[in-house]
Amino acid sequence: DPQDRWTAVDAYLSDLLIVQDAALAAALIDQAAAGLPAQNVSALQGQLLTLLAQMQGARRILEIGTLGGYSTLWLARALPPGGQLVTLELQPQRAALARRSLERAGLSGRVEVRVGQATDSLAQLSADGAAPFDFIFIDADKPSYTEYLTGALRLARPGTVLMVDNVVRGGCVISPESDDANVQGVRRFMAALAAEPRLTATALQTVGSKGYDGFVVARVNMAGDTILE
Ligand code: DHB
Ligand code: MG
Repeated sequence: DPQDRWTAVDAYLSDLLIVQDAALAAALIDQAAAGLPAQNVSALQGQLLTLLAQMQGARRILEIGTLGGYSTLWLARALPPGGQLVTLELQPQRAALARRSLERAGLSGRVEVRVGQATDSLAQLSADGAAPFDFIFIDADKPSYTEYLTGALRLARPGTVLMVDNVVRGGCVISPESDDANVQGVRRFMAALAAEPRLTATALQTVGSKGYDGFVVARVNMAGDTILE
């Protein structure tokens, strides 16, 4: 079974490369105990988020879709002193769980968990004149991904990096006839991404303990970027 192999290799790589601290482990235990779905990123993917945010030198990070705050912990630890992360979550129970996990990790001072429809929270942040974010992670309900991209771009600047989870969906993303609303949501998002002249993007297919899926990585173009013709 390929899934068993992917999971075993993820365990091998995690054992070698990841220091799974107590706060991260506790976040997953509490999330499972609260009955939340195990839709968090893997530890290896979490460390990728940390690394990419650090490579970007991100001082302001936006996350759309908090769940239990596991990816939030990985992103928050990438911040330098004085950095800030805003994470958007629809469900108050999940937001409360995330706040507890951040508290336990000593990271709550640099994170704001905003409860509500993320499209509303994004519009509110824009209306409030929020400073642009350097790094944006989209990992929420798939049917709204296109609206989240629109809202995220309003809060971005030239050079902002976007990372988007679950864009392959076990390969179903290539099925235009799919009756899965998540697949259709991702397909609509991918079309919007492809049509977005402000972004340069790629997508990575991934296998591992979370199955077969993938990420989009994109960057808002900057004046002076070299354009290939
Ligand atoms: C689902 C959502 C996720 O964010 C994820 O990483 C995996 C699965 C889902 O809604 O099925
Ligand atoms: Mg996800």
